[in-house]
Amino acid sequence: TEHTVGYLIGSLSKDSINRRLATALISLAPDNLIFTEIETGDLPLYNRDLDADYPEPAQRLKEHLGSVDAFLFVTPEFNRAIPGTLKNAIDWGSRPWGSNSFSRKPSAVIGASPGKIGTAVAQQHLRSVLGFCDSPQMGAPEAYIHYTEGLVADDGSVTVPEVEEFLSDWMARFSEFVGRVRAVIPPEE
Ligand code: FNR
Repeated sequence: TEHTVGYLIGSLSKDSINRRLATALISLAPDNLIFTEIETGDLPLYNRDLDADYPEPAQRLKEHLGSVDAFLFVTPEFNRAIPGTLKNAIDWGSRPWGSNSFSRKPSAVIGASPGKIGTAVAQQHLRSVLGFCDSPQMGAPEAYIHYTEGLVADDGSVTVPEVEEFLSDWMARFSEFVGRVRAVIPPEE
């Protein structure tokens, strides 16, 4: 079965290693997953005073989040947490009250860092946020990517075979997970 996956990248940098990782993951993913990027860079800061009249970028975000079957978060770690841009996008997506776009939709979390902890602390943080947002998450395998120079080439290919195999297996497991969740939790009317 085909499933659409909206992916969110926690970095706005044009040189983002997490964007590179996302490109690699998409090219290694099973064919039944169709990817679309959910952009976060044009959103104003969330303010609940705007709940009744979402600004245009936030309306677009809501529509985009609502149109996909699953979410993939590819994020750096900033000061041992997720970047503010990503949290801001999740806050917009979780509101207005009663129309949380993440509810009951499967998600997975992954990230890359030049540091050895490989975004582990930020991912734990994000898992707690997604838990509150009622998104069933892939618990295992976890993936904390220690990014070394050149790990993902400009064309998105992974230059270390063991890492390529690991990421490819991770995407296969994500696809299985999405299929399983979507089979038992039908989309809300
Ligand atoms: C970082 N970096 C970082 N790395 C890490 O492993 N743990 C951390 O807590 C932080 N904190 C942090 C804060 C801020 C404000 C910046 C700009 C950077 C380093 C970070 O992992 C590195 O810059 C990555 O390249 C960021 O990911 P992208 O933007 O390349 O995808």
